Amino acid sequence: MRFFTFLCAALPLVAAAPSSNSNQDNFGSYFYKGHDLSSLKTLEDTGSIFKDTARNNKTRPAEDILGDGGMNTVRLRIWVNPESGTNGLQYNLELAKRFQKKGYKLYLDFHFSDSWADPQKQPLPAGWPTTLKPLASTVRGYVKDTLVAFKKAGIKLDLVSLGNEIRHGMLWPLGYVDIDIQPDSALASNFSGLATLYKAARAGVDDAYRAGFSKTQVMIHVDNGWNVTLQQRWYGALVANGVPTSAWDVIGVSFYPFYGTSATFDNLKNSLNTLARQYRKPLQVVETDYPAICNGQWNPIPESSEPSIPYSVDGQLIWVKKVIDIVKAVPYGLGRGVHYWEPAWLNNTSLGSDCNDAILFQPDYSGWPVTVGYSRKSVNMFKEGR
Ligand SMILES: *[C@@H]1O[C@H](CO)[C@@H](O)[C@H](O)[C@H]1NC(C)=O
Ligand SMILES: *[C@@H]1O[C@H](CO)[C@@H](O)[C@H](O)[C@H]1NC(C)=O
Ligand SMILES: *[C@@H]1O[C@H](CO)[C@@H](O)[C@H](O)[C@H]1NC(C)=O
Ligand SMILES: *[C@@H]1O[C@H](CO)[C@@H](O)[C@H](O)[C@H]1NC(C)=O
Ligand SMILES: *[C@@H]1O[C@H](CO)[C@@H](O)[C@H](O)[C@H]1NC(C)=O
Repeated sequence: MRFFTFLCAALPLVAAAPSSNSNQDNFGSYFYKGHDLSSLKTLEDTGSIFKDTARNNKTRPAEDILGDGGMNTVRLRIWVNPESGTNGLQYNLELAKRFQKKGYKLYLDFHFSDSWADPQKQPLPAGWPTTLKPLASTVRGYVKDTLVAFKKAGIKLDLVSLGNEIRHGMLWPLGYVDIDIQPDSALASNFSGLATLYKAARAGVDDAYRAGFSKTQVMIHVDNGWNVTLQQRWYGALVANGVPTSAWDVIGVSFYPFYGTSATFDNLKNSLNTLARQYRKPLQVVETDYPAICNGQWNPIPESSEPSIPYSVDGQLIWVKKVIDIVKAVPYGLGRGVHYWEPAWLNNTSLGSDCNDAILFQPDYSGWPVTVGYSRKSVNMFKEGR
């Protein structure tokens, strides 16, 4: 009887161990310090330039300035068939080649959409099938073809995220999920469509491996990284619907200060540490930012989830330092990266917030649409020892 009780208690751990272990230490302890530079080419194509205020306002590529500030990785979003080509395959190959040549690691963020995909919208690419089986086969082929195109272009991808902020699933409506539909049971909300589509996307990565694409780290990215309830129930439901934990390598989360006061450092710490103990997989904060300017000019000023940190350039530095510290302190050394979202987007400075400006360059619009971005000292957020 005692033995039986012991066995039952130990079972979940025993069952979880093999797949967790198979992933655990394959990726070393490299710490990714990334900037998402997806819009950079669009800006440059219309003449925008960047000036390095630490070098007498010398004009330099944005990535050189950010690289001096400690960036070692560039994150890029990829859309399936975007209207103007922006964020499409060719657009990405061009940027990726350029950044790789300069020694940066690359992280490709699949949106599985022709435009923005986030928790509020995950629109199906135009012309993709609207029934599950054909859609799964299309997404599989798309992932494979995309990764093989990177391989053929001589580009290595360190990280690949299958979907962007997929709290509510991806490829709507078939891949839609809502963990809150029946709050008492993680299994109640229907993850079966998403599970099918995720497994298909993951199979596309394996197909690419067979075609010579070299080993990458496959990530799942869910927003609200501070919400441990969401994260645990979400991954629980995915696994309960037949996605083995071996089907992803890295847990990625977003963490923003201005979408709700629960996004505290304590909540982030608790959430990441809990996930690390449960899944024993590398974790990264893959999107964050902090306003340099928030003066209520266009919208009511949203309260920061860490109100002691001012909305200012210094505040940007304090926020990111703290996020890095929290990630680096995740148990078992599983905290592996922090990425700042679109620090150079000179003509979209609010970055989806109600604040004026969360980027790392002071824009000068006097020559619009050609804009000049003067580096703020927050470009150094990833510098060691600051
Ligand atoms: C750089 O440009 C900014 C903005 O025009 C200006 O305030 C600053 O004085 C310039 N710095 C140098 C060293 O020229
Ligand atoms: C869950 O979704 C799948 C695929 O979309 C569907 O076939 C199935 O009937 C749904 N199950 C429930 C219980 O709603
Ligand atoms: C955290 O996530 C759960 C599950 O989605 C949700 O029910 C809850 O409201 C969230 N917490 C907050 C403070 O938003
Ligand atoms: C920024 O400029 C580019 C190029 O002119 C344009 O395509 C894009 O829509 C602009 N973004 C905003 C937010 O104005
Ligand atoms: C500016 O960024 C937000 C996301 O933060 C996006 O929703 C919006 O479409 C962008 N604007 C343009 C013109 O790209």
